[in-house]
Amino acid sequence: MTLFGALRLPRNLVVGAGQRATLPAYARALGQRALVITDERLAEDPEFCAMVDGLRNAGVTTEVFSRTIAELPASCIAEGLAVGQSFSPDLIIGVGGGSCMDAAKVISLLLTHGGQPSDYYGEFKVPGPVLPVIAVPTTSGTGSEVTPVVVISDPARSVKVGIASPHLIPHTAICDPELTYTCPPSLTAISGADALTHAIEAFTTARRPYSHKAVQEHVFVGKNALSDHFALLAIGHISASLKLAYDNGTDIVARERLMLGATAAGLAFGTAGTAAAHAIQYPIGALTHTPHGVGVAVMLPYVMAFNREHAGGPLAEVAEAMGLNTQGLSVDDRAGAAIDAVTKLFASVGIPDTIAGLGVLADQLPFVAEQAMGATRLIKNNPRPLDAKSMSVLVQAAFYGDRTQLSA
Ligand SMILES: NC(=O)c1ccc[n+]([C@@H]2O[C@H](COP(=O)([O-])OP(=O)(O)OC[C@H]3O[C@@H](n4cnc5c(N)ncnc54)[C@H](O)[C@@H]3O)[C@@H](O)[C@H]2O)c1
Ligand SMILES: [Fe+2]
Repeated sequence: MTLFGALRLPRNLVVGAGQRATLPAYARALGQRALVITDERLAEDPEFCAMVDGLRNAGVTTEVFSRTIAELPASCIAEGLAVGQSFSPDLIIGVGGGSCMDAAKVISLLLTHGGQPSDYYGEFKVPGPVLPVIAVPTTSGTGSEVTPVVVISDPARSVKVGIASPHLIPHTAICDPELTYTCPPSLTAISGADALTHAIEAFTTARRPYSHKAVQEHVFVGKNALSDHFALLAIGHISASLKLAYDNGTDIVARERLMLGATAAGLAFGTAGTAAAHAIQYPIGALTHTPHGVGVAVMLPYVMAFNREHAGGPLAEVAEAMGLNTQGLSVDDRAGAAIDAVTKLFASVGIPDTIAGLGVLADQLPFVAEQAMGATRLIKNNPRPLDAKSMSVLVQAAFYGDRTQLSA
């Protein structure tokens, strides 16, 4: 095997308690007119207001758009774009969860290159650099602050769609765990479980045949030596801190570890990609209107079990990264231990154990399977090849809570 590594990163990335104080100077270095994208809840938050004051005190003329809606329906993008067109910013700042950061990224794209979001669906459709984005996450979850992707709910499509381009990677990411102290337990669980899913899917994703063209032909290039490093870092921190932060939102160390882990997971999947758990969440989210993070989390243990015989080595390493006692266990048993530990961790933070628990109905399973197969960039990343038949087995297992049919 030839050693292959690839990373695409923001120009600046800072993680740590209180680091939001760096925002005015980072913004000042990029321009004089900042459009800040957030949502109505955050716009009222004292920490958010202090950040806006900090920008203005530093001489940055600042306009706030606060009508971002969770899961990013296209209508709120159009509204934010209109505000941007009349304000003419030279930089965009996204403050919030994945929805607000994705809104900032896509509004920057549309202000720079015009058109509709649908003009850019898919990979490598963004023609060139976009207005610089500073991303400031307030959940420890999506990793959007470092990733090349935006996920949109388009009413013309039955499932969510992505725009993936290295041009969409924020210029600067400021990851301050103090901004997550207000996350209630359920949001902590859901966004943290999304992050762990990013890390495990990136680490177990298929390794592609070695090629000099991979990084130009694909935004997501599969398992590689550099994304692996960040995936393992993320798995260690998230698995050690998720339950602690869920139980006690004021556990400062747990909040720090969760944020570092979520950003590291973004660095891993932003290059390697995610796989079947993410593909299957898209139709589940569309049918049940449940958040992205809970859908991928319900699917993850089933996807790990489905992949067990094709990704045994990497799954065994996941067990090590989670700090499990694996002494004397075979590779396959260590893989099994990782699957059991993820199942137990997610149950302990209130994640349902089946997709029926999310509201999926038995007669919707064919739709779920068919739409999931349509997410080809995610399907091709899965370490065990998927076809219509095996996808159907996988979604049935996740519906009935029965993993016995999943081995290869
Ligand atoms: N671009 C990417 O790389 C990427 C990756 C994964 C998911 N996503 C997308 O990100 C979105 C999900 O993002 P998310 O899980 O961060 O949630 P979110 O941004 O959708 O926010 C969910 C809710 O949490 C609230 N919230 C956010 N921060 C808070 C805080 N500190 N305290 C209290 N409430 C807070 C928001 O106001 C909102 O009501 C989905 O649209 C998903 O598709 C994007
Ligand atoms: Fe995700």
